[in-house]
Amino acid sequence: MANVTRHIGLSLGADICWPICYEQIVGKLKLSIPWQGDQVGVDVERVTIEPFDLRQSCKYDVVLDRLTHWFHTSREWIKKSIVLDGLYVLNNPWSVQSNEKHTTYAAMMRLGMPIPNTWMVPPKSYEALPDLKPTLTKYAKLFDLGAVGAKVGYPLFVKPYDGGGWKGVSRAADAAQLRQRYEESGKLVMHLQQAVEPFDGFVRCIGLGPQTTLVRYDPDAPLHDRYTMDRPKAFVTDEEASLLRDTTLTINAFFGWDFNSCEALRKNGVWHPIDFANPCPDSQVTSLHYHFPWLVMANVRWSIFCAVTKRKFRPNLDWAPFFEIAARQDLPYRERLRGYAKIAAERFETARFEEFCAKHLGHLDEVAYEFFGTPVARDAVRQKTAALFPAHEVDKFTELFWQRIQKWRSETGATRK
Ligand SMILES: Nc1ncnc2c1ncn2[C@@H]1O[C@H](COP(=O)(O)OP(=O)(O)OP(=O)(O)O)[C@@H](O)[C@H]1O
Ligand SMILES: [Mg+2]
Repeated sequence: MANVTRHIGLSLGADICWPICYEQIVGKLKLSIPWQGDQVGVDVERVTIEPFDLRQSCKYDVVLDRLTHWFHTSREWIKKSIVLDGLYVLNNPWSVQSNEKHTTYAAMMRLGMPIPNTWMVPPKSYEALPDLKPTLTKYAKLFDLGAVGAKVGYPLFVKPYDGGGWKGVSRAADAAQLRQRYEESGKLVMHLQQAVEPFDGFVRCIGLGPQTTLVRYDPDAPLHDRYTMDRPKAFVTDEEASLLRDTTLTINAFFGWDFNSCEALRKNGVWHPIDFANPCPDSQVTSLHYHFPWLVMANVRWSIFCAVTKRKFRPNLDWAPFFEIAARQDLPYRERLRGYAKIAAERFETARFEEFCAKHLGHLDEVAYEFFGTPVARDAVRQKTAALFPAHEVDKFTELFWQRIQKWRSETGATRK
């Protein structure tokens, strides 16, 4: 029996709070997991940015990546490390690079999800490239934007096909407003998407490996209050919770995204997913607050499971099994969704993961509960708050987020007793 160490790398940009908490908790777990004849420990390190030889080997077993959707040196390092060394990465970088909102809408339409009517329109203006004029002169058809809007159905949302962070998102109630929004959209390639209105439920379901959590989302609240602290029982039935979980895990397994979130709105009893291409989901305590410990713990469980078991990375997305079920039009949609979710459970090894956590990470709840009461945890909250808020608001908001974490502690503490 040998003592071996698995290496987990954190590929980070502006993240401050969760990496501190993650590193602290993994350290306090003092892991020595008996696995296939070895005693396995885990080491966590931050990945640096530097020149690299394409042939150099990668020391990490798992990388938690938060950077490569915009920082391409690291993206290419990660891609070559998967190809040459079989690195396991959250998330599949090729899929992050190529599957934007647009493809995710199309694919989930094919699986039968009730995605609102969505059209794409060519952009209002262009980069003056040499081939632009001949291309547009020959092939671009004049179109009546108002008529496209009427086909989509008003009110509608005008939003970039590859968006994020509400950038360029606006609402148009009629053709005149739509024209105005289009004028303002510049070079962005936009979707027009029918508004799910009026809606009576708005949920963000966060998925991390096979783990999910449901948060009622309030889009009209200030940023720090958008993730509400309501319990799922207060805003969804058990069947709705199960449907939203199956929806999220289907999307995540389909696109090779271990960590992603799905936004869905309920109208007339139907949940319409509207935004589920978020493969670098918000992980900041300043937005997640009460839900932040869940996220850190979910990350710890899944990454340790992947590292210790040397879970195989799936570089290719295999869509055929989902499409086979999608073709079964004789089955009601909920049945097909259960079929997709079964594939997701196989791909995320749900049963094996749960067994692993029960056997080897039984002390995580206690360790996290203790940690989220310490000055180190509070300082992590403060550092993130100080990075985002004006100086005169740092004390007030640090205390607000801290109290919400303490609320989480008192509730989990109470359920454990
Ligand atoms: N079809 C729709 N019906 C109703 N509301 C919508 C619709 N599309 C977008 N919205 C509203 O606009 C917000 C931003 O849209 P969307 O989530 O698609 O953009 P985003 O830039 O990806 O946002 P984020 O990065 O915050 O998730 C949504 O949270 C929702 O409040
Ligand atoms: Mg969104």
